[in-house]
Amino acid sequence: MVRVGIIGLGHNGLAHLAAHRNVGLSDVVAVCDRNPERLDRARDEFGIERRYRTAAELCADPAVDAVSVNTGDPYHVEPFVAAVRAGKHVFVEKPVANSLAQLDEMAAAAAADAGLTLAAGYVLRFNPVYEAVHRFCASGQLGRIYYLEGDYVHNLLYQAAQIDTATGANWYLDEERPLVGGGSHPLDLLRWFAGAEVVQVAGYSSRFAFPEMKQDDCQVALFRFENGAVAKVAALYAPRTAMPPFNNLRVYGDRGTVERDTVALAEDAGDVHPAFKPVAADRVDGHPYEPEVRDWVLAIRDSRPPRCDFFDGANSTAATLTACEAIARNAILPVNVYRRP
Ligand SMILES: NC(=O)c1ccc[n+]([C@@H]2O[C@H](COP(=O)([O-])OP(=O)(O)OC[C@H]3O[C@@H](n4cnc5c(N)ncnc54)[C@H](O)[C@@H]3O)[C@@H](O)[C@H]2O)c1
Repeated sequence: MVRVGIIGLGHNGLAHLAAHRNVGLSDVVAVCDRNPERLDRARDEFGIERRYRTAAELCADPAVDAVSVNTGDPYHVEPFVAAVRAGKHVFVEKPVANSLAQLDEMAAAAAADAGLTLAAGYVLRFNPVYEAVHRFCASGQLGRIYYLEGDYVHNLLYQAAQIDTATGANWYLDEERPLVGGGSHPLDLLRWFAGAEVVQVAGYSSRFAFPEMKQDDCQVALFRFENGAVAKVAALYAPRTAMPPFNNLRVYGDRGTVERDTVALAEDAGDVHPAFKPVAADRVDGHPYEPEVRDWVLAIRDSRPPRCDFFDGANSTAATLTACEAIARNAILPVNVYRRP
């Protein structure tokens, strides 16, 4: 059993704790949160003995083999770097970091140790619909992919009331940018489907719908890939709707098309009006945390790369962070690509 420590016990950290228990290939032996109320909850509800207030303490615990980082977006860097330096395998939630400077610091730490299994939490890669779309793309059935789009349209107005009782702060209102926190999910899928890196980005944004947020609540960006494909991602945090039935997704190749959870594949070059059919029999409307946790734990056990390794995920985060920079500067900017050494 891989012995796991979880840092950050908000909604997401607790969901990961439950997923580790349900998958049954790991043992969550330790938890960490700077908020003592959340540590008490981990003791009362889950009976976890080893509890720490700081990432440094958890990372110094020899009973922990692997660390799952579930702190808020601006706070991934410190636990990630501490865990890597302590020789622990790491899973870090998306977005990998909240600034390009943080990303550089994390990538430098990750590059220094090639022996660890480092995963990034782009969980949509484990949704059966997106797994099937990836197979259509990777097998060449869609042909040459020239345009992709994916949107993150999620009513997050409730976040205005989520005050951290330990700090009195609300990182969501202060620091969250829709393209990074939400939009990097579809952008990660589009990079995965395109099988290519983003090299350039531009965009626009507005702040009409969620004035409590300090950053713009509606952001749209265009991405150019190294192979010539083009993509669009829109991220909206305050649509006056419930969640849409399925995320907007479009992938156009010269032999086929994906729209949301349907696909049309040409039989031959003359078949220019193929009919749409469902992409996959199953779909997961929420977060498929269990297959994601299983993949990371098995990657550690079998010494193989996880489905979304740290550098791969870092590139999805980097493209959206650079998009925010491009919006702020009203410029078209190049995107730095991180490579595993
Ligand atoms: N994969 C997904 O689809 C998905 C879904 C939801 C959230 N997330 C991500 O998961 C992360 C956590 O989200 P959340 O909503 O649970 O956040 P949250 O703010 O509710 O919880 C984070 C917890 O981390 C603790 N914390 C923060 N910094 C710390 C530090 N340095 N040391 C110890 N504890 C610290 C806080 O006290 C808090 O209890 C975020 O990065 C978020 O974007 C991912």
